Amino acid sequence: MEFKNTLYEKKEGIATVIINRPKALNALNEETLLEISSRIADAKQDENVKVIIITGAGDRAFCAGADLNMMKGATAYKGMRLSQIGQKVTREIEDIGKPVIAVINGYALGGGLELAMACDLRIAAENAQMGQPEVNVGLIPGWGGTQRLPRFVGKGKAKEMIFTGKRIDAKTAEQIMLVNLVVPLEQLKSAAKELAQDLMNKPPIALQLTKQLINNSTETDLKIGLTNEAEAFGVLSSTEDFKEGVSAFLEKRKPQYQGK
Ligand code: CAA
Repeated sequence: MEFKNTLYEKKEGIATVIINRPKALNALNEETLLEISSRIADAKQDENVKVIIITGAGDRAFCAGADLNMMKGATAYKGMRLSQIGQKVTREIEDIGKPVIAVINGYALGGGLELAMACDLRIAAENAQMGQPEVNVGLIPGWGGTQRLPRFVGKGKAKEMIFTGKRIDAKTAEQIMLVNLVVPLEQLKSAAKELAQDLMNKPPIALQLTKQLINNSTETDLKIGLTNEAEAFGVLSSTEDFKEGVSAFLEKRKPQYQGK
């Protein structure tokens, strides 16, 4: 596959996917979505990759959404297909089994916010602005926004954001728990690295099962969710990492987890 619209770096256990169309504010066309999908697949199979970061090139945008150029003259079928391709990428992020951090360096609009919401954690620069402006062009969010946004902020706030298309700033996004942390733009990369490194020192199987349980928690009833939790707890009790964690605690040293 030829990669034209994304950059990809793997360093010290962290894979970074950079959407690289800064002149178009990192808007996502079909090729770019397929590139992200391929990067995610690589990060998933590479045992050395422990944490994934997704961000945008430049300092204006994480991603301004679906590329509106590709939507011109779309048929019902093409529109549905574009929606499905974007939804597939967001599911791939959720199913990767490793923590994914969205590093929001500016606008995260429409499909850009939807991409960020599929990630596990979100760090935003103070200048970031987020929103679902699709209504302004006669659309609705098509990459999961009508489903994931209410799960973050509640139905009322999600309806307000999607009905009005208005953007919110990073501080407001933090207040409504849409982002985990807001830092000045110049500290964004170091804050993301610090968080990624922190996660790299955690037991990978515990992170993987936590991600799965929490992602599924809104899809299952409490009884099934608790059963799943107990099973995962049982699995973790039999891991080498658990033995190492307890030994390290008793020996007053830092644990070295192997993901076994
Ligand atoms: N698609 C294609 N190009 C885009 C784009 C998008 N979503 N967003 C920005 N661009 C392009 C602009 O066309 C412009 O290109 P040119 O320089 O070639 O004219 C360039 O990026 C810079 O943008 P602006 O000149 O508009 O910059 P600004 O600072 O005046 O405004 C903005 C920034 C508020 C983000 C504005 O660009 C904007 O409103 N963009 C559209 C955002 C949007 O509606 N996103 C939702 C898309 S639909 C969607 O995502 C559906 C879905 O759920 C999957």
